[in-house]
Amino acid sequence: MLLSSLLLCLSLGALVKSATGSDWCYSNCDNTPSTWEYLHGASCGGKRQSPIDIDTNLVKADLDLHNFTFVNFSSKHAFKSMINNGHTVKFNLVDGEVEVSGGGLKETYSSIQLHFHWGDADHHPGSEHKIDGKRYPMEMHIVSVKKDLTVQQATETSEGIAAMGFFINATEDGDMSPTWSNLTSYLIDVTDEEVDMYHNISIDDLIKDVDLTKFYRYLGSLTTPNCSEAVVWTVFHEPININKNLIQKFPEKAGFRNVYRPTKPLNGRQVWASRATPLPSPPWCYGDHCDYTQSQWHLLPNNLCDSERQSPINIDKSNAVTEKKLDAFHFKHFDNKTVIEKIINTGHTVKCVLKEDVVEVSGGGLGNVYSTLQLHFHWGSQDSEGSEHTVDSKRYPMEMHIVSKRKDLNLTEALQTPDGLAVLGFFIEATSAEEKSNSSSSGQNMSSSDVDAWGQLTSYLSNIQNINSEVKVTKELSIDDLLGNVNVDTYYRYNGSLTTPSCNEAVVWTVFKESIKVDKNLMTMFPTELGYHDVYRKAQDLHGRTVYTTAAASRAPVSIALLLACLCAFYFK
Ligand SMILES: *[C@@H]1O[C@H](CO)[C@@H](O)[C@H](O)[C@H]1NC(C)=O
Ligand SMILES: *[C@@H]1O[C@H](CO)[C@@H](O)[C@H](O)[C@H]1NC(C)=O
Ligand SMILES: *[C@@H]1O[C@H](CO)[C@@H](O)[C@H](O)[C@H]1NC(C)=O
Ligand SMILES: *[C@@H]1O[C@H](CO)[C@@H](O)[C@H](O)[C@H]1NC(C)=O
Ligand SMILES: *[C@@H]1O[C@H](CO)[C@@H](O)[C@H](O)[C@H]1NC(C)=O
Ligand SMILES: *[C@@H]1O[C@H](CO)[C@@H](O)[C@H](O)[C@H]1NC(C)=O
Ligand SMILES: *[C@@H]1O[C@H](CO)[C@@H](O)[C@H](O)[C@H]1NC(C)=O
Ligand SMILES: *[C@@H]1O[C@H](CO)[C@@H](O)[C@H](O)[C@H]1NC(C)=O
Ligand SMILES: *[C@@H]1O[C@H](CO)[C@@H](O)[C@H](O)[C@H]1NC(C)=O
Ligand SMILES: *[C@@H]1O[C@H](CO)[C@@H](O)[C@H](O)[C@H]1NC(C)=O
Ligand SMILES: *[C@@H]1O[C@H](CO)[C@@H](O)[C@H](O)[C@H]1NC(C)=O
Ligand SMILES: [Zn+2]
Ligand SMILES: [Zn+2]
Repeated sequence: MLLSSLLLCLSLGALVKSATGSDWCYSNCDNTPSTWEYLHGASCGGKRQSPIDIDTNLVKADLDLHNFTFVNFSSKHAFKSMINNGHTVKFNLVDGEVEVSGGGLKETYSSIQLHFHWGDADHHPGSEHKIDGKRYPMEMHIVSVKKDLTVQQATETSEGIAAMGFFINATEDGDMSPTWSNLTSYLIDVTDEEVDMYHNISIDDLIKDVDLTKFYRYLGSLTTPNCSEAVVWTVFHEPININKNLIQKFPEKAGFRNVYRPTKPLNGRQVWASRATPLPSPPWCYGDHCDYTQSQWHLLPNNLCDSERQSPINIDKSNAVTEKKLDAFHFKHFDNKTVIEKIINTGHTVKCVLKEDVVEVSGGGLGNVYSTLQLHFHWGSQDSEGSEHTVDSKRYPMEMHIVSKRKDLNLTEALQTPDGLAVLGFFIEATSAEEKSNSSSSGQNMSSSDVDAWGQLTSYLSNIQNINSEVKVTKELSIDDLLGNVNVDTYYRYNGSLTTPSCNEAVVWTVFKESIKVDKNLMTMFPTELGYHDVYRKAQDLHGRTVYTTAAASRAPVSIALLLACLCAFYFK
């Protein structure tokens, strides 16, 4: 009897006095939230107070936050009574009926009540927790006490109370859920009396389709005096969506509004998230100034960076196996001068995004038609090389990647298919001084057209010096212009991966033998304009994979003949 009356008083901390006329409030009394810390015996000025603003950029995944076990959440007989105590409306649960465990909780907790925090209908949202600064219209708290502890003992134990917060989101025309309609039908003005409940409502009915595997976890406090620092908090990521007219009933029928405590500082606490919770991708980098350096990429969520089909690799010429099926490529619309839509500084590379479904790559032994999405670059620094692939351990100054996706798959599917993506890798080397002067003096246009295209491309770099900035491409520039006269008939082929997290093993790699020649000053603009350098991944283990090479013997005489022709043109001038 004593225990149950204690239970009734617990409105997540309404322990000081129950019902009306208590000595604290949210507004219009002597002790509003800013002075709760001065209340006698209260912990409201402590260092692990709730609620908080959950900054998802600072949240870390905790793989030990497994699924919850909820006992009798589906029971239609869990609700006992309702009381409006002047701070909230509280729904008491039948003693010993509902339990919570799992979800990273160390013990089993017995659920005793649930209650609500709200704002002012349409005018002001009233959830207690916030996510990335966003406050939802309402929040529901399910309060559970560690089994076998009294409420008094629980408030004096670090994790004596487990509170679960559900955001409530207002929809314009969402369904008038019968359960929520029935629940709100109990809302009444402030009273000292408990109202018995006879509707057959279950907690599951209230939670509806919220994904209970997605949640945040931190250690905090009761959000009302005396703010005992005894709560292990679970805040679910997905809100319960209910019609705004139902939300409006809370301030309307209860007779008060804006019953939530402002968020409190974290004071160094870590907020964790279950594995299924979507988080902004954590920062990875090539160097050592971030959370996940190259050697730690495999610790990032959902990645394959430590797997056995990774890229880039060192190509050992003498071990490359000649493969006759590696025939000529067909490049569709590589000559289209308006196909590059924009250039983006991703913070890891410069990416040229192409207009969708225009450029295509096929042939070249690929066996599928691929639709080209983007091209991007890897570079070193002003005085170090930065290609990703190496040939007989030689690293080239830069490497360009043209990324295409199998035309019959969407990107999600392609990333999960062994040959879902085809990447064409081109080494980039400096035009030597002689080549430049020779070509101009000999009247050859080949190199000079390269200089134009690369000059145009690099002229955009000064406009995207900020990470995530982008610029629309207005100058005429085709992929062919960037390739110049590079030989596209001789190349290496192997099965590999994306060279950045999540390192999906979905790439059929083509690495061309001949390099594109670009003016050294233009190449230098990549590290200097973008402000980061050495953006390449180290060579990965082959793990027994075969690297194939084109035969291309038939091409050689042609090239030699061309070269001779050039030389002759020069010598006979
Ligand atoms: C957790 O629950 C989800 C959805 O209910 C399920 O897909 C997943 O397999 C569960 N995980 C474990 C470890 O039981
Ligand atoms: C769950 O509900 C059933 C049926 O109402 C009841 O017998 C049981 O005691 C409840 N509690 C637990 C913890 O199983
Ligand atoms: C909240 O409700 C609005 C409609 O009022 C909807 O557009 C939005 O997606 C919902 N938010 C979430 C996180 O479900
Ligand atoms: C809600 O209440 C109505 C009548 O007030 C009743 O017909 C219906 O069964 C109730 N639904 C639930 C889920 O309790
Ligand atoms: C709740 O369920 C009981 C039977 O379990 C039934 O007698 C009663 O009428 C139901 N209440 C409502 C409001 O539907
Ligand atoms: C108030 O908080 C203190 C310290 O957390 C605790 O010892 C005390 O029992 C609490 N008072 C009540 C009435 O729970
Ligand atoms: C180049 O691609 C655009 C679509 O991005 C298309 O409208 C245009 O006709 C193409 N030009 C040529 C010459 O094919
Ligand atoms: C990709 O296709 C699959 C079905 O094959 C579909 O379930 C999925 O939603 C699609 N993804 C996108 C981003 O369109
Ligand atoms: C370029 O011209 C220089 C003399 O100016 C000559 O020594 C060199 O062999 C030429 N190189 C080529 C590739 O033609
Ligand atoms: C060189 O390019 C110019 C225009 O840029 C063109 O008029 C000329 O015909 C080209 N010469 C050769 C040999 O292709
Ligand atoms: C890539 O893997 C597929 C499937 O295992 C295989 O058929 C194909 O020959 C491989 N290609 C190369 C270049 O290794
Ligand atoms: Zn609460
Ligand atoms: Zn790349």
